[in-house]
Amino acid sequence: MLYYVRPMRREDVTQVDEIDHESFSTQWPPTNYYRELQNKLARYVVVGDESRTVKDHEAKTPPVGGISELASRVGWLFRHRRFSGRGLSPRETQYIIGFAGIWALGDEAHLTNIAVRNSHRRQGIGERLLISIIELAAESNANIVTLEVRVSNIPAQKLYYKYGFNQVGLRHGYYTDNREDGLVMSTESITSASFLACFQSLKRAYAVRYGINREESIPMR
Ligand SMILES: CC(C)(COP(=O)(O)OP(=O)(O)OC[C@H]1O[C@@H](n2cnc3c(N)ncnc32)[C@H](O)[C@@H]1OP(=O)(O)O)[C@@H](O)C(=O)NCCC(=O)NCCS
Repeated sequence: MLYYVRPMRREDVTQVDEIDHESFSTQWPPTNYYRELQNKLARYVVVGDESRTVKDHEAKTPPVGGISELASRVGWLFRHRRFSGRGLSPRETQYIIGFAGIWALGDEAHLTNIAVRNSHRRQGIGERLLISIIELAAESNANIVTLEVRVSNIPAQKLYYKYGFNQVGLRHGYYTDNREDGLVMSTESITSASFLACFQSLKRAYAVRYGINREESIPMR
């Protein structure tokens, strides 16, 4: 596969918004991913398609306002070659096909969002993101990963059950758009021998199924 996982960057946010809107059209208020990137507790990853680029959406929304934005703005100008003397070069960025994020809340990593472009679902991208999220949670020294999911969202629940999440609660009327209930799900300790054995075996199966040629199937770069 020509897909890779890496930390989310500002220039990804327009595409991430697109994926968010097509995946969570009823969610209100929408997540502000620019703000999330500045949230010290939050960690987000994207899956990009190495073979495809798009016009750099961030070009439409350069950072503005505030002294703290100055360095970022200068960086933006350099990244977009405003100082190159060769005029504007085509502004392109990698095509993003999915994203996910956690809030690292001490012992707990809470999955805030996970979504894959409609056009790319059922190709293992969601699974790849969840593997990365569990690895990020472990790197953040979390002991468990938790999340909420709509009771009607069977595809997502199947993904979570596959990775060892179990229902630990029910939030009545949790979703404000239609008062749908939310399942609260959690892993067991992600450092326990049983979880790690299961996780390693799922990663190996994933690598075989999707033709990734090494056990460490999720390169982060
Ligand atoms: C949930 C979501 C991220 C899954 O992404 P995906 O790339 O399509 O999933 P994958 O192809 O990696 O599938 C991995 C596993 O998820 C489960 N799954 C995914 N889609 C499924 C579907 N339509 N029906 C049943 N199971 C499904 C399966 O267990 C699958 O494993 P399998 O292939 O061995 O059966 C995707 O459907 C999505 O973006 N949905 C909208 C956003 C959303 O609901 N996010 C969850 C919020 S809590």
